Amino acid sequence: MTQTTPSFTPPQDEGAVKISYKGKSSTFPVLTGTSGNNVIDIRNLQKDLDLFTFDPGLGTTASCESKITFIDGDKGVLLYRGYPITQLAEHSSFPEVAYLLLYGNLPTRHEYKVFVDRLEEKSLLHEQIRNFFNGFRRDAHPMSILCGTVAGLSAFYPEGTDTSNEESRDIAAVHLIAKIPTIAAWAYKYSRGEPFVYPRADYSYSENFLNMLFARPDTPYQINPIFSKAMDRILILHADHEQNASTSTVRLTGSTGAHPFACIAAGIAALWGPAHGGANEAVLKMLHTIGSKENIPDYIAQVKDKNSDVRLMGFGHRVYKNFDPRAKIMKKTCDEVLNELGEQDPLLELAMELEKYALQDDYFVQRKLYPNVDFYSGIIFKAMGIPESMFTALFAVARTVGWVSQWKEAFNDPLRRIYRPRQLYTGPGERDLWPR
Ligand code: ACO
Repeated sequence: MTQTTPSFTPPQDEGAVKISYKGKSSTFPVLTGTSGNNVIDIRNLQKDLDLFTFDPGLGTTASCESKITFIDGDKGVLLYRGYPITQLAEHSSFPEVAYLLLYGNLPTRHEYKVFVDRLEEKSLLHEQIRNFFNGFRRDAHPMSILCGTVAGLSAFYPEGTDTSNEESRDIAAVHLIAKIPTIAAWAYKYSRGEPFVYPRADYSYSENFLNMLFARPDTPYQINPIFSKAMDRILILHADHEQNASTSTVRLTGSTGAHPFACIAAGIAALWGPAHGGANEAVLKMLHTIGSKENIPDYIAQVKDKNSDVRLMGFGHRVYKNFDPRAKIMKKTCDEVLNELGEQDPLLELAMELEKYALQDDYFVQRKLYPNVDFYSGIIFKAMGIPESMFTALFAVARTVGWVSQWKEAFNDPLRRIYRPRQLYTGPGERDLWPR
């Protein structure tokens, strides 16, 4: 198999920024990448001027150099290794995209077969892992089962601790991409009290996942090609998104040299939050709360009220300030799935009405708030029979590819060092503790 190890060339120098402070001045180079914003290289800021930068939420900080994913938030562009997400979603498959993200290039036919065979071979879980599930309550959230079980898997693969070895990092990456759908599907089966369904070699990645979720010993699951195509596309759309909260968590955890399975468990924990991967579940909850079209104005009024903490879920994005290219593909996929089912979902109608209303409202227009990928994904999942509690787990299945690709890339970065952000301390100055 050809593995394109990213070769790090220093970005070009594009001028400099001079900063003067307290009678001293220093010049900081401006670096340019292939696309996107240039960055000021402030690595010498403390040494030269005894200053740190202040950037809560790291919204204007490039925390690393990467060759994997590019986003232009203003133009609504998302590229994986240079390929537009729209083209990949239309013409590629999830394992092919996984290969692309991991190794830098699309696979040849032979490389694809080898990769898919590896994924298939590693998709089984050690039988002892079945016992993990019994430790959870039946009503445990699938994300807590996923997070705990993936962290626990590290005990079964001690070789993953040898992160200095490229081959062992690659094995860990393939294990994770292969096993996480099995764990996620079993978390669902466990919540229903149904027997676990094992992966099958004759099914594609997406077919397998659907089969593990829905097949039962008494009723084999009939794979609907529209559903498996939709699942594949959803996985592609969610596979990577550069340095988002969960990916940064994985990179940060990885920077300590932690076991790869523990790093991915940390990513799963970060993804779980409603401001990140939990949003698609939150969209459906919101639609249930709104209930019907007549209640939209009241709900929007609450969203706009600065004294309430209600947000329009599935709207807004830290990076996309025009449109989310994934949302467009998702809307099309949503139509295909609902057409296949031949039913009009009242929740989808409500979502469409809500979207129309918000897009015409000054509050959302002025703040450049548009539907994000999560606005539609929940509706598709619901139509396919996937319960709300599983939505974020599905996102984790997809994003595992991005996490492991970014985690691997970090090891080839000559600038790699442990993450250690600074702070602006505003607490009490030093004070003495008096005897009490
Ligand atoms: N509903 C109402 N107002 C919003 C929303 C929203 N969904 N999103 C942002 N705003 C408002 C903020 O209140 C703020 O208003 P102000 O300027 O009057 O104070 C302004 O828009 C800017 O908001 P920020 O919080 O600075 O935006 P940020 O980039 O930090 O947040 C986020 C992005 C977290 C995604 C936010 O838009 C949000 O909470 N959206 C809803 C949750 C969601 O859908 N998350 C999924 C993200 S996509 C993903 O993870 C795959």
